[in-house]
Amino acid sequence: MSHADFETVHVPLAGRAYDIRIGQGLLEDVADHIAPFLKRPKVVIVADESLNMVHLPKLTAALDRAEIEANVLSLPSGEQTKGWAHLTTVVEWLLDNEVERGDLVIAFGGGVIGDLVGFAAAILRRGVRFVQIPSTLLAQVDSSVGGKTGINTRHGKNLVGAFHQPSLVLIDTDLLDTLSERIFLSGYGEVMKYGLLGDAAFFEWLEQNAPAMKNGDVAARTYAIKRSCEMKADIVVGDETEQGDRALLNLGHTFCHALEAATDYRDRLMHGEGVAIGCGLAFDLSARLGHCAQETPSRVRAHLRDMGMKADLSDIDGDLPDADALLALMAQDKKVVQGQLTFILARGIGDAFITRDVPNDVVRQLLTDELARRT
Ligand code: GLY
Repeated sequence: MSHADFETVHVPLAGRAYDIRIGQGLLEDVADHIAPFLKRPKVVIVADESLNMVHLPKLTAALDRAEIEANVLSLPSGEQTKGWAHLTTVVEWLLDNEVERGDLVIAFGGGVIGDLVGFAAAILRRGVRFVQIPSTLLAQVDSSVGGKTGINTRHGKNLVGAFHQPSLVLIDTDLLDTLSERIFLSGYGEVMKYGLLGDAAFFEWLEQNAPAMKNGDVAARTYAIKRSCEMKADIVVGDETEQGDRALLNLGHTFCHALEAATDYRDRLMHGEGVAIGCGLAFDLSARLGHCAQETPSRVRAHLRDMGMKADLSDIDGDLPDADALLALMAQDKKVVQGQLTFILARGIGDAFITRDVPNDVVRQLLTDELARRT
């Protein structure tokens, strides 16, 4: 029997349904949660090495208590791990460990580990089951849910991958306690995105409660993660392979990807920070095109500033390229179809929509104006 209380979000995909379980201290009960998926008392874990000191020993001790054999491969933190070299390392290591089709692979880390290990599980023996135990807020509310797996290549991020749903997502909110504030807040960019794209009441709740969430309020964290996962699950169930509405989850991401590329994917801008700034720009663009009220972008940015987050281009340190160069980077987005960018715009907070009908000149002028505010 499990000991810790937990919330459940069910993802009812036909033939691939699974639970997302959210609670404090779930790591202690990992054996109970994975027991239904085990054909033999053995698992393999691929973990982010930043978890080696505190959280990985808790996970392996919990498995040991239940007499489940666990072999562990720890990989370096950071986006550079999500490439061909480490994919080969993981797949060969899984084969060295004689992982069979019926076995269970555990991905224990943030988005990099979840995407890499999920992809390795997708291609190993044409698909083995895996469990996500996400260790960052960003992974807990976004990347561990929905089955997008993959790696980066020299041509860009996430260009090689597969849809492969996990068998279970186990979210232990205690793992958030050891994150730096910056990494926590970067994940918060994705939480806020859910309110902005589809739930105005959730955004209002965040305006009231997110500062407590930042300061460690477990109930607020649990609610925000649960609501984010519910929204993601709904969208994924309606459009698993992103033929339509799943693209709503990319609110802020077209701008974000260009800014990440312009800052060389380095410490100057974390992904969730780029998403937050990108959401502000998406609302600016929506206002300029007459889709939403002129004051809505300011409300989005006011909330980001309340949270102590980067809110616009002037918060990015160092040089940025000019508007044309940023537009060129946006044009490399993998959602470009026949040269036309896809944008997620909004009619208001909680009411996003997908469009290709955005004149380049309006985007260029917006970026020119926003870049000018940096000087
Ligand atoms: N992170 C966006 C998606 O899962 O579709």
